[in-house]
Amino acid sequence: MQSVNKDTITEAFMAYCGEETSPRLKLILSKLALHLHAFAKEAELTHEEWQAAMSLLARAGEISSPERSEFILYSDVLGLTALVDMINSSKGRTAYSNLGPFYIAGAPWLEVGGDMIGANDGDQVAFYGQVLSAATRKPVPSAVLDVWQTAANGLYSNQDPQQPDFNLRRRMKTDAGGCYAFTTVRPAPYTVPEDGPVGDLLRATGRRPWRPAHYHLSVTATGHRPVVTEVFHHDDPYIDEDPVFGVREQLVVHLETESDIAAVPYPLAAADQLRRPFYRLHYDFLI
Ligand code: BEZ
Ligand code: FE
Repeated sequence: MQSVNKDTITEAFMAYCGEETSPRLKLILSKLALHLHAFAKEAELTHEEWQAAMSLLARAGEISSPERSEFILYSDVLGLTALVDMINSSKGRTAYSNLGPFYIAGAPWLEVGGDMIGANDGDQVAFYGQVLSAATRKPVPSAVLDVWQTAANGLYSNQDPQQPDFNLRRRMKTDAGGCYAFTTVRPAPYTVPEDGPVGDLLRATGRRPWRPAHYHLSVTATGHRPVVTEVFHHDDPYIDEDPVFGVREQLVVHLETESDIAAVPYPLAAADQLRRPFYRLHYDFLI
């Protein structure tokens, strides 16, 4: 019988894995065991603390549903989701950032220059730019941009029965010059769900649950790696304390206050209806 002790348990764990373990799974498990065991030893974890951690996980299971994953929220507030996004982002390309739980596939299509303000209240924004190839810096025509955001009340359409289906969610194909443009309203900050164990963790550590306002965007194009990302406003009150660590310098845009529609280099369907001043937001994606 092998006698396992504090110093040999990590090796023993790996030795228990059979021949059939794939090399990748073996690597992941060995690193996980290495760091998990080191963590327990360094923190000198007590039985009570271990029990508290297990009940946090059990409570996450109880509160989770097909619409809500408290486990993903743990990953988000512990920085793991953001770290995976960062590991899989590459220099010279638009960084990945939080898909979040509110995406709905199949949003209606909008022409370049189209309007998604519709009946929404709030500050109005002309949002435009180009999708460029990270390798060549050339425009990418027919790239598909999928955008979703909150209304001015901080709620997504699938959280708010007052909003029509697919409100503030659109897909758009870039034109021959790789350009996209649309008019929208300024999204608002909102809180991550705080009525479960993750909320308790945030409160226990004095962290606020407010995410800075953002647009979610996914950009896909044939022959390019897709990117899922977020764009933030420079003047957001929560820009330096996102509880899910989605903010990266390159994803923060300076919103320009604008009264002259000619400053937007793309014809907008809502040009005549846009209130002055409006916000002008220019962002180019590198894929
Ligand atoms: C979101 O951006 O939609 C989101 C991300 C993480 C947790 C909750 C919401
Ligand atoms: Fe979001």
